[in-house]
Amino acid sequence: MSELNTESVEATDAPTLHALMRNRYGTSWLPTPNAPDTRVNDVIETLLSHRSVRAYSTQPLPADLLQTVMAAAQSASSSSNLQAWSVVAVRDADRKKRLAVYAGNQKHVAAAPLLLVFIADLSRLRRVSDVAGANTPGLDYFEAFLVAVADAAFAAQNAVVALESLGLGCCYIGGMRNKPEDVAKELGLPPEAFAVFGLTIGYPDPAVKTDVKPRLPQRVIMHLERYQQESSEALTDYDATMNAFQRLQRMAELDWTTQASRRVRGPEALSGRDRLMSALRTLGFGLK
Ligand SMILES: Cc1cc2nc3c(=O)[nH]c(=O)nc-3n(C[C@H](O)[C@H](O)[C@H](O)COP(=O)(O)O)c2cc1C
Repeated sequence: MSELNTESVEATDAPTLHALMRNRYGTSWLPTPNAPDTRVNDVIETLLSHRSVRAYSTQPLPADLLQTVMAAAQSASSSSNLQAWSVVAVRDADRKKRLAVYAGNQKHVAAAPLLLVFIADLSRLRRVSDVAGANTPGLDYFEAFLVAVADAAFAAQNAVVALESLGLGCCYIGGMRNKPEDVAKELGLPPEAFAVFGLTIGYPDPAVKTDVKPRLPQRVIMHLERYQQESSEALTDYDATMNAFQRLQRMAELDWTTQASRRVRGPEALSGRDRLMSALRTLGFGLK
């Protein structure tokens, strides 16, 4: 039976890579022997300490937070610098409530003081090109949509890292894709703009403990030179590590392999997203 090592880290001292890695992987993967005592910088510490936060304190957000976070988001690389993404920042309580319902009644969407909705946005490129008098059939291809989604995701993840480095907590909301047309209407999106996911933001509620959720062992996801299928033993190790995490969280134990398989079992498990392709066409995307 695998146990999670929740090695505590001295408040006054930078954690060792070893301590951060043990939290990130449990016992299903251990760093190489020369790594344990390596001191890490603040960026690595922030990244390895990530956990989704779904309960927020009443502490108000700093007035300049949005500007800082957006600058971090816009600092992400962008395919051909097309910057094919936008954000809608939602603070209005009623609007958050409606979006929470669209996202499958997720209470933390309404409860978070700030919700950022990341948009894959081809509409601006269409407008810019129209003004320039240029033809834009290139925007009608799936490639353009993929570029926009990837740009939105890179920007969002930069925002997450910036927020967490400032002591804030956040949670992605893929539920924003459950009812894409309703969300688009609520946010006043033009054609060819699609809410890829939301991001709830707030200071973590100190009364609610969240822990770092272990990830798959590196030997499962990283391949040297050529792809090699993972061993079943590595997956069994990870199931045991996740079971230990669930016990720590006082959650029902469920193997990751079972949980992941259930999530992809069919359209009934997709919370309405099985009709995403037709919704995207309704929203004006060509997707050739
Ligand atoms: C694109 C995306 C969509 C997600 N959607 C939701 C969501 O709708 N609701 C939610 O509570 N968590 C959501 N999550 C959070 C994941 O459940 C979480 O990242 C995962 O379980 C790993 O946990 P961790 O972030 O604490 O490490 C989403 C994460 C991503 C990356």
